Amino acid sequence: MRLLMVAPPGAGKGTQAKLLAAHYGIVHISSGEVFRREVAAGTELGRTLAGDLARGDLVADELVLEILKQPIIEAAARGGYVLDGFPRTLRQAEEAYQVARQIAGIELQAVVHLIVPRPELLRRLRARGTAQGRGDDDEIVIAHRLDVYDSETEPMLEFYAGRGLVVDVDGFQPVEAVFEEIVKKVDALREGLG
Ligand code: AP5
Repeated sequence: MRLLMVAPPGAGKGTQAKLLAAHYGIVHISSGEVFRREVAAGTELGRTLAGDLARGDLVADELVLEILKQPIIEAAARGGYVLDGFPRTLRQAEEAYQVARQIAGIELQAVVHLIVPRPELLRRLRARGTAQGRGDDDEIVIAHRLDVYDSETEPMLEFYAGRGLVVDVDGFQPVEAVFEEIVKKVDALREGLG
């Protein structure tokens, strides 16, 4: 199974991706976690990424693809993946699509779009900021991340919708209910595609 989570900050991409990885026996690849680990380790790459992450800006498309391409190819060969946070712009989606056309068996099979009202996104991110102190869960940066999602990521959904890959899921439910809805809809989509 090869899945992509697309949703705004705080919608539950990471939470659900972990559950889906365990359910389908696939690899969870979180672009944000990969980048935060580099920053925390103080690597040269981490120093390059740190400013964008702290401001809630997107990392440059070409750098993102360079970092994530190989882990995704390897995960596809090991049974599949759930991508959490990449692709995140139309350009990333188009470039990933071009790569997938050249390598058999790595293309996406479903895109999970979690829908959560903005006040709930703000509530979750503020709560996590207080509880865990993640650097970009700061009031001003949260607002910017949500704006960046609206302008850069949401338009990308059209690209996948045109390929019949998107399932819309109500993310404003308890975690377990969201998970059950995703599995039901993803399995139905896969069966429909044969
Ligand atoms: P990334 O790490 O992807 O962060 P994000 O998109 O802002 O997403 P979050 O991790 O905040 O939210 P989530 O949807 O995963 O929700 P979660 O499950 O954590 O990206 C960080 C940064 O990296 C970007 O700003 C950018 O700089 C850079 N970056 C990453 N990918 C990039 C790319 N492809 N291109 C360029 N730059 C890139 O849940 C949030 C909270 O809500 C948690 O506390 C959780 O416990 C709670 N929660 C989850 N589900 C529920 C529920 N159903 N009910 C109640 N609470 C819930």
